[in-house]
Amino acid sequence: MGYDYLKAFLEVQNLSKSFVINKRELNVLKDIDLQIYKGDFVCIVGPSGCGKSTLLGQIAGFEQPDSGGIFIEGQKALKPQTNRVMVFQDFNQLFPWKTLLANVVFPLKIHKIGQNDKERANIARRYLSMVKLEGFESFYPHQLSGGMKQRAAIARALAINSEILLMDEPFGSLDAQSRSELQNMLVQIWQETGITIIFVTHDITEAILLSNRIVVMGRAPVNIKVVIANDLERPRDTGDLKFSGLYHTIYDLLKV
Ligand SMILES: Nc1ncnc2c1ncn2[C@@H]1O[C@H](COP(=O)(O)OP(=O)(O)OP(=O)(O)O)[C@@H](O)[C@H]1O
Ligand SMILES: [Mg+2]
Repeated sequence: MGYDYLKAFLEVQNLSKSFVINKRELNVLKDIDLQIYKGDFVCIVGPSGCGKSTLLGQIAGFEQPDSGGIFIEGQKALKPQTNRVMVFQDFNQLFPWKTLLANVVFPLKIHKIGQNDKERANIARRYLSMVKLEGFESFYPHQLSGGMKQRAAIARALAINSEILLMDEPFGSLDAQSRSELQNMLVQIWQETGITIIFVTHDITEAILLSNRIVVMGRAPVNIKVVIANDLERPRDTGDLKFSGLYHTIYDLLKV
């Protein structure tokens, strides 16, 4: 896969963020430096409350940092833009009153992608088929399973030409089989499109199955404990010795 390690595509530079809770300051992210390369598939693992979602939200531009910043191809990224789009864990990310097709067409219209409605519908159909939702275009969200809704959220992010998918435990609420199907599908999309993915998960196995690098996070002041290269051969096998070796390395890092 063509990730380019020579220059960072997205860079988190010296980023700090605190929140004031009950008049007490909580330093959540402290002096974070992280390089994400074009075509990277970075999984972030870390204990609950260590700041994974906060970091992803900073990268998305949802909130401003206290200091430092996010740079994309050298340009400071100050607000949310279509070049990086978040997919959340929550299944209710779609408009319930719109069909699946209309849900994907809507942001295309907003962002003036496609010449006319027909072209936008074609773009939407192409991405719905990429996430294997062909034939469900006229369904409403309440007629879809959780896994199908997550597929739709991914299709919508891809359709607006997002270059970086930010995923916050997107498969965390799925049953084991759907989760496994979506993991395989995401890896396939990543391989086919060369898109850059930053994926937060609690699940060490998921991080090893998906990523080409794993960021192990802890609480501030040392948020990034280590970044591990994951060059296990694909498709990956959880029964593989190297797989379990990596699992135990990460497990031990998370314990301390
Ligand atoms: N908007 C906010 N206002 C105040 N505190 C916040 C806010 N967002 C996050 N926090 C605090 O920041 C800390 C980190 O939260 P965050 O959601 O980033 O953790 P996380 O690593 O994603 O946890 P989890 O694995 O449970 O999702 C928590 O202590 C949380 O209470
Ligand atoms: Mg979180």
